[in-house]
Amino acid sequence: MTEDTTTYAFVVVSNRLPVDRVVDADGNAGWKKSPGGLVTALEPVMRGNDGAWVGWPGQADVDVEPFTSDGIHLVPVALSATEVERYYEGFSNDTLWPLYHDVIAQPSYHRVWWDSYVEVNQRFADAAARVAQQGGTVWVQDYQLQLVPRMLRDQRPDLTIGFFNHIPFPPYGIYAQLPWRKQIIEGLLGADVIGFQRGADAGNFSRAVRRLLNYTTRGLLIDVPEDGGRTVVAKAFPISIDSSEYERLAATPEIQARAKQIREDLGNPKTIMLGVDRLDYTKGIGHRLKAFGELLAEHRMTVEDVTLVQVASPSRERVETYRLLRDEIELTVGRINGDFSTISHTAISYLHHGYPRDEMVALYLAADIMLVTALRDGMNLVAKEYVASRIDNGGALILSEFAGAADELKQALLVNPHDIDGLKNRIVEAIEMSPKERAKRMRALRKKVLENDVARWSSAFLTALAASKSALPAEPGEVVDDEDDQDLEWLPPGRGPAL
Ligand code: F6P
Repeated sequence: MTEDTTTYAFVVVSNRLPVDRVVDADGNAGWKKSPGGLVTALEPVMRGNDGAWVGWPGQADVDVEPFTSDGIHLVPVALSATEVERYYEGFSNDTLWPLYHDVIAQPSYHRVWWDSYVEVNQRFADAAARVAQQGGTVWVQDYQLQLVPRMLRDQRPDLTIGFFNHIPFPPYGIYAQLPWRKQIIEGLLGADVIGFQRGADAGNFSRAVRRLLNYTTRGLLIDVPEDGGRTVVAKAFPISIDSSEYERLAATPEIQARAKQIREDLGNPKTIMLGVDRLDYTKGIGHRLKAFGELLAEHRMTVEDVTLVQVASPSRERVETYRLLRDEIELTVGRINGDFSTISHTAISYLHHGYPRDEMVALYLAADIMLVTALRDGMNLVAKEYVASRIDNGGALILSEFAGAADELKQALLVNPHDIDGLKNRIVEAIEMSPKERAKRMRALRKKVLENDVARWSSAFLTALAASKSALPAEPGEVVDDEDDQDLEWLPPGRGPAL
C-alpha cells in the first residue's frame, strides 16, 4: 500500500479524534462520537475548513489508516495499552487534570507517566508535522498535548502554531507542585498564540512564565528569547457551542413532543431539575445531591412537586478516583431515593449513559431548572446548551461561580457549590421565581450565547493566530509585573488588526 502523502493547510491536533472506535459483542468494529465538550466545539470548525484532524481513536493498540468521516479527514495516532495507562489515564488524567482543577483530588506524580507523556506528545507532533502543508496552520488542543507546540516548531519552523487549553490553568501556588513545571511551560511557548478559557487562566500562565523562566511579559504578550526572539500571545478566548443548531433542534415539533413526553413519564411534577455531566469529581454532582436530599429531608419540597434528573455520562472509568466517585454518587442516589421516593414518584432519575443531541435538547426543554454546580470547570458547555435550547425564554439556570461560563452568564443564578445552604436557597429561589423574572434573565443569557457562538470563538482565535504571524516586531511595551493582571485587553502595538 502506498503511503498517503496528502498535506493540509489547516490541521487540528487533539488527544481524541471526534469519533471513538468501538467493538460490539459480535466483534464488529464501528465508530461513535467521542465524549466531551472539545469535540462538540471543534466539529463545526472543521466542517468549515478543509483540514485534517490528528488524534487517538480511543482504543489501545488500534492502528488505523487515515480515513474520512462525515467530511472530515482523520489521521489516527496509535497508543499502546501501556501508553493509555501512563500517558492518558496516568499523566493526563491523574496528574494534570486534578492539578489544573485546583487539586480537588490529589494529583499523583510518577516519572514513568511523565516519560510516556513526552513520548506520546512527540508522536502527535510527528504526525502533525507529516500532514501539515508548508507554511500551514496547526491548532493543538488541550492539556494532554502541551509539549506538542515546541516539538512541532523544532521540526517545522515554517508553521503557524496555535494552542488552546480547554481546562483551567491553575494559580502559580498550585502549578508549582508539578515536578515538570518548566518543561510544560516551555512546550506551550512553542505556540504563536496560547488560548485560555478565562482571563484569569491566561494571567496564571503568564505569571508562571515570569516566575519559572524569567521572561518579560507585556500585557498579553510574552517575549520569548529563543528562536532569535519571538512574541507569544497568551489570551482568553471563551469557547462556545453551535448555538443556532440548538435553537433549530429546540424548534422541531418532534423534539418538543419528546420534551412533553419526558414530563409526562416523570409524572408531570411542578418542577423538573436537571443535571448533565461527565461523571467527574470536578462537576460537584455530590454537592447538588446533598442539597436536594437536605431540602427533601427538611420538607422544603416533596417528590410529588420536584424531581431531579441526573445524566452522568461514563468517563475515565479505569482511573481509581473516578471509580470511587461513581460508587459514592450511586450510593448517595440510592440513599436519597430509598428515603424519599414513593411508588409513583422517584426523587432522582439517575442515568449513567450518554445521549444523542436530540434527546439532550428534549431534556433541556423539559427541565425547569438546570443545575451546573461544578467545583472548577474550564467553561461548561452544558450551561450554554441549556440556554441556547430555551427558545421559549423559560427555565432557570443555576450556575457555579467556579465554571468559566460564569464570567459571561452573569444573569444566571450564580452559586458557590461548597456553600450547601446557599445552594439550597438558590434552588428554592429558582423554583419560586416568577415566569416574568425567569424570562428576563433567560433573554439576557440567550443574547450572550447566541452572539458568542463557537464560530465566533474559532474565528477570534484563528484571526489572532494569523495576526501573530503577519506581525511586525513588537514594540517595547509596558512591563507587567503585578499579581493581578487577569483581564487585560490585548492591544498589540503595530501587530496587525486589533481583535
Ligand atoms: O475538555 C476536557 C476534556 O478532557 C477534553 O479534552 C475531552 O474531549 C473531554 O474532556 C472528555 O475527556 P476524555 O477524552 O478523557 O474522555
